[in-house]
Amino acid sequence: MQALSLLQHYAQQAQSLLPADTWHYLQSDAGCGQQSLANVQSWQSVKLCPRPLATLKYPNTRCELFGERWEHPIMLAPVAYQKLFHADGEVGSAVACNAQQGQMLVSSLASQPLEEIISQAQQPLWFQLYWQGDRPRTLALLQKALAAGYSAVVFTVDAPVKQAVMDLPAGISAVNLSQPLAPKAITAGQSQVFDGWMSQAPDWEDVAWLRDQCPVPFLLKGLMHVEDARQAAGLGCDGLIISNHGGRVLDTTPTVVQVLPAIAEAVGGQCKLIVDSGIRSGQDVFKALALGADAVCVGRPYLWGLAAEGAMGVAKVIRTLRDELEMTMALTGVANLKAIRKTALF
Ligand code: FNR
Repeated sequence: MQALSLLQHYAQQAQSLLPADTWHYLQSDAGCGQQSLANVQSWQSVKLCPRPLATLKYPNTRCELFGERWEHPIMLAPVAYQKLFHADGEVGSAVACNAQQGQMLVSSLASQPLEEIISQAQQPLWFQLYWQGDRPRTLALLQKALAAGYSAVVFTVDAPVKQAVMDLPAGISAVNLSQPLAPKAITAGQSQVFDGWMSQAPDWEDVAWLRDQCPVPFLLKGLMHVEDARQAAGLGCDGLIISNHGGRVLDTTPTVVQVLPAIAEAVGGQCKLIVDSGIRSGQDVFKALALGADAVCVGRPYLWGLAAEGAMGVAKVIRTLRDELEMTMALTGVANLKAIRKTALF
């Protein structure tokens, strides 16, 4: 029988350590609950072609995005309320990035102050922005992150209004929001979705407006359609995170594997492309880059590490993914990220 990988081991530990509702929140999908599995399987279905005997000159996984240099292209996806998973919380994830030269995107729904998280980081951090129902409140949150020193802004658009998904335990909240977004009151007969939540959702005009408010690189997270990618590029977005939110928002979407090649062809020259949803190994990271991504984010795997061993667990997850990426490059005869191309796939 195959031994458990580190990630599988951490997932098992996380499940046994976390309260059932927290584990459910971490793992959950939209709808029938099959999308995250489809995401994982889609990366596995892409095959790698071994190319032994290549001489690798100065092999490395270095990555540059918006003038920031990273030792590898593996980033921690923005994830809310990390103190739910371990007392180290978001600070623990930032410290793990220090140890492993990783990059972290800090959620609008972080459970620790933005200033405290960035004060513990030895490298730039990016801020993930959720729309706050209107322009003034969204701008206030953006400005708070910029004042704290976050070096890029990632505006998540696929979950336009965030509803509470579980009852948060005492002492855990979105401490950086002055006032959590509440559902808009509706009258009998009105639609809860259209007249309620969605009446507070952003649209493309808000994206254009936000882009203009943002003096640092501005990325959109959660696009899956090539026309949306074109529109974002046309509005001056510096990067896109192609993502179905790990399958947590809309059930039965395509996978990133299915949509990435066309998006890379359409806008890869204009925007940096980062992908997430279902990445579980360094081989998957390699495949994402071969299909046109510049970097990847991982979500659930680092939270399994955080739940199991705090900052140390997150660091080991990043290290494992990086080691696997390097091994995949070595076995496919590729010396650096730029040389990872579709021809390495089968
Ligand atoms: C998320 N994700 C997310 N995304 C975001 O933009 N802001 C957020 O606050 C959160 N919060 C969040 C909580 C939890 C528990 C999870 C698992 C995910 C989505 C996340 O950034 C990313 O898109 C997915 O997690 C990627 O898929 P995998 O790697 O989990 O399969």
